[in-house]
Amino acid sequence: MTGGFFAAGGRSDIAVARQAAGANPEIAKVLVDPKFPDAFPFGEQEMQRYDESSDFLFYSQPRFVQHIDDDAIGALTKYYAEVFPESGREDTALLDVCSSWISHYPKDYKAGRISGLGMNEEELGRNPILSDYAVRDLNEDPTLPYEDNTFDVVTNAVSVDYLTKPLEMMKEVNRVLKPGGLAVMSFSNRCFPTKAVSIWTATGDLDHIWIVGAYFHFAGGFEPPAAQDISPKPGKTDPMYVVYARKKA
Ligand SMILES: C[S@@+](CC[C@H](N)C(=O)[O-])C[C@H]1O[C@@H](n2cnc3c(N)ncnc32)[C@H](O)[C@@H]1O
Repeated sequence: MTGGFFAAGGRSDIAVARQAAGANPEIAKVLVDPKFPDAFPFGEQEMQRYDESSDFLFYSQPRFVQHIDDDAIGALTKYYAEVFPESGREDTALLDVCSSWISHYPKDYKAGRISGLGMNEEELGRNPILSDYAVRDLNEDPTLPYEDNTFDVVTNAVSVDYLTKPLEMMKEVNRVLKPGGLAVMSFSNRCFPTKAVSIWTATGDLDHIWIVGAYFHFAGGFEPPAAQDISPKPGKTDPMYVVYARKKA
């Protein structure tokens, strides 16, 4: 599905952090002129998974593991440090969707509220950065249990590929963001393949950028999404990519 989806160019935009030397310049180009079609191009078939049993079965046991290597985590934390509101403000609120025991936020980052939403209560209960958390299967119920215009930033780390109702979820992300608030979807090239949607397992990194860009675009209410390769040591560690957009003010 690559080829026609991508166009050349360069984009410097919101929420851009410094790139490591050797970062793949093609990543940012994907969303420069993405040529999205008129209608959302993914349906039931693309959102199917090999394992269609309840996600609560898969996530019933806590996994106190890292899903990406230390360098990739470090790169994401550094990116967050560069784009998050300054630490220590009581009026700042952040939400980590598909959260677990670890959110990769900068060490000692403080905000009035840091909420997490995920599938495993034990993992969420051990996440030291969260001030509150909710357990919800977003594939059963893609609504977010938060008021409109609540959060300055919504993050989703290495998990967007598990969501079978991505448009509904992204509309909810838009709803709960404050006007001008930032949504950051990050991912690497690893996943639980039986639980990832088929369009993800059938495609590569550049396609994934386009797919997540399409989620933002077709959800509506966001400024045009952009992408960045934040891989710390390209070719030597897990790659790390971010696709991000701000809610229209
Ligand atoms: C690969 S782990 C990533 C966890 C964490 N964000 C990190 O960076 O380590 C995938 C996460 O997605 C969450 N998740 C998977 N399917 C979900 C669903 N249907 N609804 C809500 N969260 C889900 C799980 O709770 C799990 O924490």
